[in-house]
Amino acid sequence: MVNHEDGMTGADVQRIARAIAGRGGEPPRALVVLGSGLGRVSNRVEASVEVPFESLPGMPSTSVVGHAGGFVLGFLGGLPVILQSGRFHAYEGHGSDVLGLTVRVAAELGVSMLVTTNAAGGVRDDLHPGDLVVLDDHLNLQGRNPLVGPVLTGEVRFPDMTEAYDSELRAMAEAEARRLGTPLKRGVYGAVLGPSFETPAEVRMLARLGVDVVGMSTVPEVITARARGLRCLAISMVTNPAAGRTKRPLTHDEVLEVGDRAGAELADVLVAVMGRIAATAQPGGAK
Ligand code: HPA
Repeated sequence: MVNHEDGMTGADVQRIARAIAGRGGEPPRALVVLGSGLGRVSNRVEASVEVPFESLPGMPSTSVVGHAGGFVLGFLGGLPVILQSGRFHAYEGHGSDVLGLTVRVAAELGVSMLVTTNAAGGVRDDLHPGDLVVLDDHLNLQGRNPLVGPVLTGEVRFPDMTEAYDSELRAMAEAEARRLGTPLKRGVYGAVLGPSFETPAEVRMLARLGVDVVGMSTVPEVITARARGLRCLAISMVTNPAAGRTKRPLTHDEVLEVGDRAGAELADVLVAVMGRIAATAQPGGAK
């Protein structure tokens, strides 16, 4: 049993990684994280081996509606990946160490890329439910950082965040979206703690700070990934206009519903990007 008071240690991370590696399959090259309502991407995984979180030694469980909670090993667009459905949010009360846990585990398994998706509220005026937004930067407004605590093996204390979102992967996503005829906008993600949605005044503040989409996830994963030298690609699906941008109150059901409709397009883009990486000589190499 892991003593969560002491936080997840490097040994805990390695134990979980060994348990996953023991399930067989090709070593994954990318960790693909699925946000709320984006579970349909997992239907596109070939030769899949399911690894529920509860089957892993010392792995915490997630508690959010719409998050199943587990890994799937398999191929997406021909690229060996480890897919994560269900993620650990700060608002569930997890410690900093748990927020980046799956990224650390995937890094132990040898992935060189994090591909992460989320449901987000549209702060910028031109963003509407169903829009896909590739992230080019973020604001960490959660008041916490997943790297607080000891420096684990393979990580740096002060990771550079100048290009947290890899420009080459972003260009690839934009090119593939264009080819598929799927509009893909660009934006800055603002990560808030939640779980309450924002007030209209908070949304106006976020807009002034330069936030285009707002959500409660992703940033801890990206920070952890950068500490491990992984390249990051992140795509938000706008599920609702942020508070005050619409007259209606926000519900989590709305977030899940839109995810279901626009999720297929996002899945197509991700499969295409993975396919392109699988086909290149130096795919997703750490930089
Ligand atoms: N705010 C914060 N997180 C979210 C939202 C939102 O409007 N929509 C989906 N996740």
